[in-house]
Amino acid sequence: MALPPRPGIMDMAPYVPGASKVDGVDKIIKLSSNEGALGPSPKATAAYEELGSRLHRYPDGGSVELRKAIGARNGLDPDRIVCGAGSDELLALLARAYAGPGDEVLFGEHAFVMYPLFALSVGATPIKAPETEFTVSVDALLRKVSDKTRIVYVANPNNPTGTMVTSDEMTRLRAGLRDDILLVIDAAYAEYVTRNDYAPGVELVDAGDNVVMTRTFSKIYAMGGVRLGWAYCPEAVADVLNRIRPPFNVTSGAQAAGIAAVNDVEFLTRSRNHNANWLPWLSDRLGEVGLDVVPSAGNFVLVRFPESGPHTADAAMAFLTSRGIIPRGTGSAGIPEGIRITIGLEDEMRATVDVISKFLKIM
Ligand SMILES: Cc1ncc(COP(=O)(O)O)c(C=O)c1O
Repeated sequence: MALPPRPGIMDMAPYVPGASKVDGVDKIIKLSSNEGALGPSPKATAAYEELGSRLHRYPDGGSVELRKAIGARNGLDPDRIVCGAGSDELLALLARAYAGPGDEVLFGEHAFVMYPLFALSVGATPIKAPETEFTVSVDALLRKVSDKTRIVYVANPNNPTGTMVTSDEMTRLRAGLRDDILLVIDAAYAEYVTRNDYAPGVELVDAGDNVVMTRTFSKIYAMGGVRLGWAYCPEAVADVLNRIRPPFNVTSGAQAAGIAAVNDVEFLTRSRNHNANWLPWLSDRLGEVGLDVVPSAGNFVLVRFPESGPHTADAAMAFLTSRGIIPRGTGSAGIPEGIRITIGLEDEMRATVDVISKFLKIM
């Protein structure tokens, strides 16, 4: 008989990553994982390659130089930054540190699909709050708070909806939560946001002991392959994370590439400008062909298709993938009528609009 794992674990559906292959199709346009369109900074790639001759050495367990570089760029105290193998690791460690059996972990109805898994993996109960127009509702979240709530996760902007919470609303959320509830602001897409009523969460972290902001190198820095993220924390939370994280959780390659990437401000600006051009372009074109496009602040758009007839999201996915264009279905986030399309290069965006326009003409 198979050994039973701890309660909750068999309720977890394993995470399904964005697809990257289609059988029988050679040329692929991968728009399924929100990887930065321009790829990584060439300086980050060079720094990574340079490490090839030193693979026998363990990495710096404290990621000291990387934390200094991140701190210097963002005006933050490096002692309150903790680096992880992707922000996923840090988000999971926060659940492990602050929630357990009998506790509740709260998030929005269409939140990033990992949050329920983080809760279940530590034996806690995931709780969803309704959203309004695919956007986190502070009031709905506050209504779902119970004596058992220990953590609230808010991805801002959220994946897969692309919607964001304004800094005023986030402040109102924090003010409405009990002090012993940890608010985790997952700002994986922060660098893409152009709206001036947005803030990634630094001020809220600084304002007390119960807010953490996480960031990633997987999106605008396009370094998902090396697994690198960081959290900006109150001192006591940084101390907790440093006790429970694996001692060498960030590889030497990730640290070297991360330092180079964070210092290549010119490349970051180019990546941001590319998105600022092509996000509205793609959103407008898809709107013009009659689709419902949820306004996005990230590097992807959630597009909604009719729920029945020839033009469903499933049919669109099949049509696109058979032509080598791979977006991501959003059924796992409770949006079966949606697909999420990452902003890619100009030719990839034009090809995507062409194929979707053809799809919509099929009767
Ligand atoms: C909102 C959000 N948070 C966190 C992550 C995890 O990113 P990583 O573990 O690569 O840093 C993702 C990746 O898709 C995401 O969309």
